[in-house]
Amino acid sequence: MATQTGLPLFVLGQGADPHSEKGVECPGELPPASDPDLVERARKAKEALGDRLFVLGHHYQRDEVIQFADVTGDSFKLAQQAAARPEAEFIVFCGVHFMAESADILTGDGQKVVLPDLAAGCSMADMATFDQVEECWEALEDAGLAGEVVPVTYMNSSADIKAFCGRNGGVVCTSSNAKRALDWAFEQGRKVLFLPDQHLGRNTAVLEMGMSLEDCVVWNPHRPGGGLTREQLDRARMILWKGHCSVHGRFTPESVDDVRARIPGVNVLVHPECRHEVVLKADHVGSTEHIIKTLQAAPAGSSWAIGTELNLVKRLATMFPDKNVSFLDRTVCYCSTMNRIDLPHLVWALESLVLGDVVNRITVDDDTAHWARVALDRMLALP
Ligand code: 13P
Ligand code: SF4
Repeated sequence: MATQTGLPLFVLGQGADPHSEKGVECPGELPPASDPDLVERARKAKEALGDRLFVLGHHYQRDEVIQFADVTGDSFKLAQQAAARPEAEFIVFCGVHFMAESADILTGDGQKVVLPDLAAGCSMADMATFDQVEECWEALEDAGLAGEVVPVTYMNSSADIKAFCGRNGGVVCTSSNAKRALDWAFEQGRKVLFLPDQHLGRNTAVLEMGMSLEDCVVWNPHRPGGGLTREQLDRARMILWKGHCSVHGRFTPESVDDVRARIPGVNVLVHPECRHEVVLKADHVGSTEHIIKTLQAAPAGSSWAIGTELNLVKRLATMFPDKNVSFLDRTVCYCSTMNRIDLPHLVWALESLVLGDVVNRITVDDDTAHWARVALDRMLALP
């Protein structure tokens, strides 16, 4: 199968995130995907809502949805943008659940954040539950280590986990500021508990901060004591949570070897959620926003193999027809949960708002929001 852009498209089932999709039905009448008027309906609803509405779109969203975003960006830029729109009554978040939660935390009480499909979760965020993280922290306290550990959570985590970090002197980071967040954390303490993406934590520590792989240990929440000995914990500087992205985790070092053999002179550009062995073999690494900027600045005629979500890679191929853009691995699929936000769900959410019905509102309780905001504000204040 080939995409419109000519990129090879191999979709390996949509099961990348079974937990986040389970049992979440749309509570209303979705327009059929075959309705030829969907684009016009979305446009009209947006027009009717005018300045009361602000639509945010993550780079991994489908084209059919991204065309209606007022701002597109990576998770850091979208968090900043949500915080900078106090006048918008409705923030429709075309992205995943943890992003909409962060937008609710960063916006005022009168502002309502809507996620067009509640099944748009994130399997990585689901890999660190509040109870598991509390259990880990208690074990670190029992070992007399918690006082020197600063918790840092990736944006891709639930509001509970962000609040945990806020309460315990920690911070949130995204893929575009992970180094700055870790620099800050190591000014506050001697060790970091990095949640929930072990790959972003390891890649940043080793490739950007000069740590060694031996400085990093992995806490497995499914093993007693995280599966670590006291000595390992004592020696570690980075305690990485055993979590990963089910999309980026599929790229392999062989994908890089293979693309280099197929495309002479190709530049390999990957997201830091990829495994360390993959990032080591790549030429460049960076957030989604960084990936776009790198392509923008690349010379015409250059070849690029991109290791990130397929919707973005397809869009890059369309945006930069003067460059050869390909997908790093033919067997990697779309992010199934990002893809949940489609045009029927967007039209349904927007038309409901026009009728005065705020559907799929995402709210975070006051205490959680307060402490999560502490951790988010520390991130937004990073130099
Ligand atoms: P960015 O932080 O680069 O936007 O990527 C985040 C991501 O994976 C969203 O799921
Ligand atoms: Fe989560 Fe990975 Fe999808 Fe991002 S791409 S939303 S980290 S599963």
